[in-house]
Amino acid sequence: MKRIVLASGNAGKLAEFRAMLKGYEVLSPKDLNIEFDVEETGSTFYENAVIKAKALYELCGLPTLADDSGLCVDALNGAPGVFSARYSGGSDADNNAKLLRELSGKTDRSAHFACCIVYYDGERTVEATGATYGRITEKADGVGGFGYDPVFFSDDLGKTFGAATEAEKNSVSHRARALVALDAKLEM
Ligand code: IMP
Repeated sequence: MKRIVLASGNAGKLAEFRAMLKGYEVLSPKDLNIEFDVEETGSTFYENAVIKAKALYELCGLPTLADDSGLCVDALNGAPGVFSARYSGGSDADNNAKLLRELSGKTDRSAHFACCIVYYDGERTVEATGATYGRITEKADGVGGFGYDPVFFSDDLGKTFGAATEAEKNSVSHRARALVALDAKLEM
C-alpha cells in the first residue's frame, strides 16, 4: 500500500484521514520519529497547507498531506479565517466569546468553515477544498467537537456542530468534503 505522511499529530484528524483514504497507509510524523512543527505564515488556507506539506516532505522524503482550515464569517469580511486558532490569543472559549462580541447587534450571521488539503510528493502538488455552511448562533450550544463548533449552526444538520454527534459532523464537515475531493483527485 502507498505510504503517505500527514502533517499533523492530531489523533482525531489522523483517524479521519485514515478512514477516508482507504487506498493509503496514512502515517503521522511521530510514526517516523520526526519532530514536525512549522510556522503557518501564509495568508490563505492553501498557502499554509502547501508550507506544511512541503516542509514535511523535506524531512521525510515520502508523499505528504497537510490541511489548513478555519471559520469565515461574512459580516466580518471572512475573519477569523486563517487566524481562527489565534483569533483571541486565548482558548477556544475565548475565541467564541470574542466572535459573539464582534457579531453583537449584527443581523447577518452567515458563516462557513473552509478546509484546504494539499498532497505533495516532490513533483506533484494536488489541492482539494471543502466547505460547510451555516450561521453563528447568539450563544454557545453543545459540548461536542472543538473550536467554534458550539457557536456554528449547521444548515445541513439543523443544529450546532457542538450539539451534533461526531458521525453527524463528519457527514457534512468541510474536512470530510475536502477529503472526498482529494481522494477522487489522487485516483486520477
Ligand atoms: P487547523 O486547520 O486544524 O489548524 O484549524 C484551525 C482552527 O480553525 C482551529 O483551531 C479552530 O479554531 C478552527 N476550526 C477548524 N476546523 C474546525 C471545526 O471543524 N470546528 C471548529 N473549529 C474549527
